[in-house]
Amino acid sequence: MSDQWWGHAVLYQVYLRSFADGNGDGYGDLAGLRSRLGHIRDLGADAIWVSPWFPSPMRDGGYDVADYQGIDPMFGTLDDAARLIADAHSAGLRVLLDIVPNHTSDRHPWFLEALEAAEGSAARQRYYFRDGKGPGGSLPPNDWPSAFGGPAWSRTTGPDGRPGQWYLHLFAPEQPDLNWSCSEVRADFEKVFRFWCDLGVDGFRLDAVPAIGKDARLPPAGIEFNDVFSPSGWPETPLWDGDTVHEVLRRWRDVARSYKPEKALFGEVIVNGPERLARYLRDDELHSVFAFELSRAPWSAPAFHAAIEGILDGPWPGRARPTWFLSSHDEVRPVTRYAPGTAGTSTASSPVRDLALGQARARAALLLMLALPGPACIYQGEELGLWQVEDLPLELLQDPIVARTGDARKSRDGCRVPLPWDAGAPTYGFSTSGPSWLPQPPAWASLTAASQRRTPGSTFRLTKRAVELRRELPELAGTGFEWQQLGAGVLAFRRGPRFACLTNFDAAPLELPGRARVLLASGPLSEEGHLPPGTTVWLACPPG
Ligand code: GLC
Repeated sequence: MSDQWWGHAVLYQVYLRSFADGNGDGYGDLAGLRSRLGHIRDLGADAIWVSPWFPSPMRDGGYDVADYQGIDPMFGTLDDAARLIADAHSAGLRVLLDIVPNHTSDRHPWFLEALEAAEGSAARQRYYFRDGKGPGGSLPPNDWPSAFGGPAWSRTTGPDGRPGQWYLHLFAPEQPDLNWSCSEVRADFEKVFRFWCDLGVDGFRLDAVPAIGKDARLPPAGIEFNDVFSPSGWPETPLWDGDTVHEVLRRWRDVARSYKPEKALFGEVIVNGPERLARYLRDDELHSVFAFELSRAPWSAPAFHAAIEGILDGPWPGRARPTWFLSSHDEVRPVTRYAPGTAGTSTASSPVRDLALGQARARAALLLMLALPGPACIYQGEELGLWQVEDLPLELLQDPIVARTGDARKSRDGCRVPLPWDAGAPTYGFSTSGPSWLPQPPAWASLTAASQRRTPGSTFRLTKRAVELRRELPELAGTGFEWQQLGAGVLAFRRGPRFACLTNFDAAPLELPGRARVLLASGPLSEEGHLPPGTTVWLACPPG
């Protein structure tokens, strides 16, 4: 295993609650993940990123952590985690653990202590407690918005039942923000990192990193609560991406470097533009950051071109590069994003979503992404061509965004529906007994992992072959990249003189260059060897 493995890695994102259920409670867990590791190994991934597994009231699917050194009973035990890490390593997979530094759960002992403690006490200094404004302090202390909608402040109630101070939460009220200018907070996280590194994890996916770089004086931001929370659009703001974040990252990198081999740090970093992003990739900070550009690009050649170019031409300081991804537990699944139409009943102006077309395009996008230089991440179910489930019963939705905004369409639950493993079993083999926490659509019976393994041309087989070729072909491991002009609606690039990747976004079938040999295609080519719309092809090109 190479020391610099992250530079060209294929990560596979496991959303633990929805991957595989080993104890029959309807939620995915560590035992389930262990039992299905072969799926990820067979796909050829280098590492898994596992969503937070810590004890949590699950008010944001585990991104509300009550104890950073434990495992939620719903997922298993510390022994299960150790066994998972051992099994993953035996399967040649590294393990990246998702850590949530910006906020704890409101059930974390520190927050409970802070609620009990006096105003201005050391216990309250670990978070941001402030007096409200206006008569009786009834207004939030400043104008900062929450990423999940509404103000970033909630008011406490004192022991006498009277309203007390307010506390800051850039996400849900059950996720109070930690004060990263507090040395105790910094020191405690270093212990947490070491705890998991000592257990054997190979690195971390770091949640919402720029959020810890806030101006501790909490000045007004000039943002309306109802404005969209958009860190990529804010030029400079006191609540996000301030310089102090970099001091903290340098400490984390020191911890990562103190292990041999070094632990890898992948950050979720959404900031305003590549210059700001590049600061996170300095030699003594993160190994990689997730590049959101592709996940936000609509199905069009210019949009993909701009997304890719923006990253390829970024001012990255050293050898570190952003990680490509199309999909995650936070994004609408690509099949649905690229499928024209709307969910539900068809009308003349909005036809029912064409999921078959969406699937073809998602396969094309995946193949395109895997041909790009640098690390890439596949979200569970992407390799099966799953779509966003848009008709989940309202009462089952758990995403806090729904409660905060009152808008079920914004729910991220639709991309978190449990995976279908085997058509012959209840919950398609996801759970050993119980119903799954979110129901799977009946149509997923034809998309199970078991059937796709057997079926030539399935999305699973396509992804597996692409990952295999990505490892085999020296061109794909390098950094060489050159755009080719093959007309509007087509995205084409070479990776060295012998490899080309072509995606036809347009309506007209594209004639493939003569003498090139097809290595892999995301869908059938026409009889005349043309590349149909919504298809990507990898070509071996003759020299010259
Ligand atoms: C990140 C996670 C997301 C979570 C949020 C708050 O964006 O990916 O799922 O809700 O942080 O922790």
